[in-house]
Amino acid sequence: MSNNIDSVLNETRVFHPSDAFMRQANVSGMAGYRALRQEAERDYEGFWARLARENIVWHKLFHTALDESKAPFFQWFADGELNVSWNCLDKHLATQPEKTALIFEADDGKITRITYRELHARVCQFANALKSRNIKKGDRVVIYMPMSIEVVVAMQACARIGAIHSVVFGGFSSKSLNERIEDAQACAVITADAQMRGGKVMPLKSAVDEALAMGRCDAVHSVIVYRRAGSEVQWNSRLDVWWHDAIAGQALTCEPEWVSAEHPLFILYTSGSTGKPKGVQHSSGGYLLGAIVTMQWVFDYKPDDIFWCTADVGWVTGHSYVTYGPLAVGGTEVIFEGIPTYPDAGRFWKMIQQHKATIFYTAPTAIRSLIKLGGELPKQYDLSSLRLLGTVGEPINPEAWMWYYTMVGQSRCPIVDTWWQTETGCHMISPLPGAMPTKPGSCTLPLPGIMAAIVDEAGNEVPGNQGGFLVIQRPFPSQIRTIWGDPERFRNGYFPKEMRGAYLAGDSSHRDADGYFWIMGRIDDVLKVSGHRLGTMEIESALVSNPLVAEAAVVGRPHEIKGEAIVAFVVLKGTRPQDTAAIKKTVEDLRNWVSKELGPIAKPDDIRFGDNLPKTRSGQIMRRLLRAIATGEEITQDISTLENPAILEQLKQAIK
Ligand code: WT7
Repeated sequence: MSNNIDSVLNETRVFHPSDAFMRQANVSGMAGYRALRQEAERDYEGFWARLARENIVWHKLFHTALDESKAPFFQWFADGELNVSWNCLDKHLATQPEKTALIFEADDGKITRITYRELHARVCQFANALKSRNIKKGDRVVIYMPMSIEVVVAMQACARIGAIHSVVFGGFSSKSLNERIEDAQACAVITADAQMRGGKVMPLKSAVDEALAMGRCDAVHSVIVYRRAGSEVQWNSRLDVWWHDAIAGQALTCEPEWVSAEHPLFILYTSGSTGKPKGVQHSSGGYLLGAIVTMQWVFDYKPDDIFWCTADVGWVTGHSYVTYGPLAVGGTEVIFEGIPTYPDAGRFWKMIQQHKATIFYTAPTAIRSLIKLGGELPKQYDLSSLRLLGTVGEPINPEAWMWYYTMVGQSRCPIVDTWWQTETGCHMISPLPGAMPTKPGSCTLPLPGIMAAIVDEAGNEVPGNQGGFLVIQRPFPSQIRTIWGDPERFRNGYFPKEMRGAYLAGDSSHRDADGYFWIMGRIDDVLKVSGHRLGTMEIESALVSNPLVAEAAVVGRPHEIKGEAIVAFVVLKGTRPQDTAAIKKTVEDLRNWVSKELGPIAKPDDIRFGDNLPKTRSGQIMRRLLRAIATGEEITQDISTLENPAILEQLKQAIK
């Protein structure tokens, strides 16, 4: 991370939107941006109320925009009624039933197109299947599926009947799945026999079986299994039903369940500073509004765009910019099952060429790995359809930004570096591509109606170019409503007293002379590994649950492609392995253990053994020292409070 900060601090390049782009943009020029910001500043609630009236079709219009009486449990448009699936599908049936909604490309390259009319019918049919299994408004449904048309159908069908979905990324382990099913008290799981990625078959149903066998999932009465790979599965006839059997004979229309704007649309688990993931709960109305306005402002969406967000639906990006935003605006979007490097590192560029994608949105880690594996490959494809590029998930280093700009965008396409979080539901700080000049590495300025600021520990705004905590000072429609089942953790984590009512994002940032934001990284024990959010505590708990391990501490180290790599310092219960072979074996055993416990994305890159960990006299692990050791930096910090200074030498010398 520190390299990145150094380089962005020296960044002076500025890229202005072209006249042509500016002229056609939904928000044109800085004047257009300022006009919207000023409207929000003059009449904050009126601004959001206007957008909510114009962009959402309400079954019953709301009277009150913002209700702050239960702060920080803010409510938006609460007396309004809508259905999110209706706004994504039925809304378009009269005007554009035959427009392609989804272009699905499978791992093996097979392409399936589906129109709004067809998608609507399939969502209704599956919604009826859910209803016939007694799944109702407010019930929680866990979805553990590959990228597919079916996963969009499953999410939309839940929204249609008012059931609350919780998508679990297919790369998470059965143990993670078990914890999420239990925490959400889910009554159903929707999965597939397996997923196909990079030519390999990776089982999903067996992980669901394992998760249920771990117990505390008694609320689950249905497991619906989509047959993707044709692989063999174990069958529990009490719970399991094939997707195709569940929908057989179901009607192709389904009256939506009209819900309050505050009805939870979904729960999405994400990592925090403790070992237990938090179930981020989102609303229906405010969330949908955020997804729609950012499609217009940030992605400058136009009806003839071909939109492609590469994120998996297991992450919030795949909720807002695959399942909901693009459909709510009536767009055509590409959905991809596979991985960017299969059959080779030209896959993304080949797909952009083939589908004539106009807007492409991906993660810095993907860009960095594609530079490394084939920096010249984009030249072999016709990328002239592109008009806008985006990134999300972590700071993008200026070198990667420049490559993306020149090689992929051919110096023609603005880049929107979008800062946001699972908790914010949609983009918060980002260029509006026809308005803001961009600077490589900066997410530029807050969106209209987003009151972002940088403050110190006492909640006071910091002057000038100083770094501090990133906060959002006024509640906004798409924000997290609570942590499922843990309102106190929600209040303490995001609205600590010192912040005086502002939302504490958990990132540090500074602003330059133009007011542009430069995100510096997390302020808590959260890592960003290939754009995925992982809590160091979760990895530590996984390590400590291994019978060999007495104690563990996990820190991040900068990594060229992944952004951050995971380094674990481990104290074993027995004696430390001494010879290289024994060390290697224990390292491999523990890496595989973590992978099994949490999922392959959490596998430590590096494990070092010591007889102890550096601790203060009160027993706290001194992580900043471990961070220095992990990066090979000289330890310049004060170590006078360290109980056991000799341990530093031992950990430094520990063989990888
Ligand atoms: C954290 C949120 C937002 C969807 C995907 C990640 C980091 C995200 C950027 C960006 C710098 C970024 C922050 C944030 N982050 N986007 N454009 N520039 N940092 O969602 O898993 O909830 O992670 O990702 O640290 O807090 P998430």
